[in-house]
Amino acid sequence: MTYGEWYHRSISHKENFWEEQSRKINWFKRPKTILTKDKNGFYRWFSDGELNTSYLCLDQQVENGLGEKDALIYHSAVTNTVKHFTYNELLDQVSHFAFGLQKLGVAKSDTVVIYMPMVPEAVIAMLACARIGAIHSVVFGGFAPHELAMRIDDAKPKVIITASYGIEIEKRIEYLPMVERAIVEATHKPDHVISSQRPNSGELPKGMIDFELVLSQKEKAECVPVNSTDPLYILYTSGTTGKPKGIVRDNGGHAVALKFSMKYIYDASVDDVFWAASDVGWVVGHSYIVYGPLINGCTTVLYEGKPVRTPDAGAFWKVINDHKVNIMFTAPTAIRAIRKEDQEGKLFGGYDLTSLRTLFLAGERLDPATYEWITEKLNIPVIDHWWQTESGWPMLGIMQGLEKLNPKSGSAGMPICGYEIQILTEEGARQSPYKEGNVAIKLPLPPGCLNTLWNNDIRFVKGYLEHYPGYYVTGDGGYRDDDGYFYIMGRVDDVINVAGHRLSTGEMEELVASNKAVAECAVVGMADELRGQVPIALVVLKDGVVITDSELEKELVALIREKIGAVSYFKRSVVVKRLPKTRSGKILRKVIRNIADGENFVVPSTIDDPAILDEIKAKFFNQ
Ligand code: COA
Ligand code: AMP
Repeated sequence: MTYGEWYHRSISHKENFWEEQSRKINWFKRPKTILTKDKNGFYRWFSDGELNTSYLCLDQQVENGLGEKDALIYHSAVTNTVKHFTYNELLDQVSHFAFGLQKLGVAKSDTVVIYMPMVPEAVIAMLACARIGAIHSVVFGGFAPHELAMRIDDAKPKVIITASYGIEIEKRIEYLPMVERAIVEATHKPDHVISSQRPNSGELPKGMIDFELVLSQKEKAECVPVNSTDPLYILYTSGTTGKPKGIVRDNGGHAVALKFSMKYIYDASVDDVFWAASDVGWVVGHSYIVYGPLINGCTTVLYEGKPVRTPDAGAFWKVINDHKVNIMFTAPTAIRAIRKEDQEGKLFGGYDLTSLRTLFLAGERLDPATYEWITEKLNIPVIDHWWQTESGWPMLGIMQGLEKLNPKSGSAGMPICGYEIQILTEEGARQSPYKEGNVAIKLPLPPGCLNTLWNNDIRFVKGYLEHYPGYYVTGDGGYRDDDGYFYIMGRVDDVINVAGHRLSTGEMEELVASNKAVAECAVVGMADELRGQVPIALVVLKDGVVITDSELEKELVALIREKIGAVSYFKRSVVVKRLPKTRSGKILRKVIRNIADGENFVVPSTIDDPAILDEIKAKFFNQ
């Protein structure tokens, strides 16, 4: 069957299609109900099924004879360490650690926050939670204590699992003081904090528990059966306000969707080495460093390092060479960083890359120049595919396991089975080909997508379902062409993408506005050659305030770094007399973005004072 036939069947016979796919999962109790609605009217997949995701990742593979095969290869470019874990070894460690968690009082449906760098202990912690039916919430290590505190208050974890430090380019990031500060700031207090003490760590702070102690339990935890719709994890992502949204992922739909994606999107077989060069703090890390490859019996690579400067722009090619990686996934920013330092591709030459079949890219738009450069250098299919934390797995792409259709430069591909994607006008009419609109997905979403927001059904409805009744709005804008290929052009809300990191300009605005000199502000994403976008603030001062522009900029940069983290890459603020607004008082953010990017734009007829645009232009470009 062709891609087209599969896709159409996935839409016209949804329940049959996913029932068939659900058979590929080893359930404890096979579901009889495929698709239903819960008491809130939200769609639910496989609601009467029972399973355990950790069982699917580990025990099942051992039972299938893969016990002595590598499940995980930890490759740390920053500590020069490589460590292999067979399925037997990983199962053993996860089972002991899970038992240790149970002894600390963690039970089914309890929450656990994991705030760790890219070390195997992070994967062990995730799988151990899944094993005992606890709900993990991994927080990206690049986030500052304030961000961690907000997540602690929302998820209310019984236990926090962390590590003594992470390693960025040439510097150590001490995690424990950050965890301590977050706990002081948060209203909710966890019962326990477990820390994995890396080599040359200081003494474990009083009251914290050593990861090794939890791991050293004699007994092992068995897999606790959970309902298909029980949450596996919460993953916070940036929305348009200062408060992050806790995306809730179920167990059953997630397992079915990931298993399906491994075969039909990534064309991965059990013999493959799969490497997603991302971070376990992001959805890519959850789905394609941990759960997807392991559910599929592949070997997954956990890489601690950067694409460049650890030690050079050949770092990725070394990993492929050393571990015979077959399928790789990274963000376009990483490729742009490599290209910047190795335009000629000299560092490719030193490594054997013949194992690599396909490179997948996502996290932000894959610009044609980057696509063409890397395609020429690797000479293998380079597949852009589009998804978000909310979906948990790709929504657009070229399904490599179905039909290897040609990618088109600039396009994120065609709809993945199960996703009925439409481009809609603001009023909800279907947009014609080549015309930009809001990217929306007809309900029900396929298995694996978000169930709701943690403890916030109302925000789930308001944020995603209310705009177009019967549809999920993605927050992205884009268009499709006559051949059915889609082009995702960027966010239409206050979310920006900085080096593949999703951040909220709304949150930055709240912080900038908290500075005592600031009367009003607008933060927008400005195009950046390496990072895709970087934030920039337009600030109006309070009357009578005496502060130089550079002093204010220094304060704001320090504040955002301190509250959100260095990953926000907030480096610039511009003081202006007034913000451009409509006569009804709405800030014209798109116009500010256009000016920042040096683009031509039409001055909106509703603007209250067009002269302000010239001042902004002059300030942006220091004229
Ligand atoms: N923990 C703590 N700090 C972190 C961090 C982490 N996990 N990740 C980044 N930071 C810090 C960096 O140390 C840096 O701090 P500094 O300002 O004190 O130097 C700051 O955040 C900015 O980091 P980054 O944007 O990563 O810049 P970089 O120069 O270190 O690296 C790239 C640039 C392009 C190589 C890097 O951003 C990259 O690899 N991007 C790909 C991202 C990706 O894979 N995203 C996943 C989505 S699929
Ligand atoms: P996150 O939830 O952090 O994965 O970020 C999701 C957002 O990243 C999407 O809503 C898009 O704006 C952007 N994004 C992810 N993948 C792509 C892609 N392939 N092309 C364009 N934008 C993308």
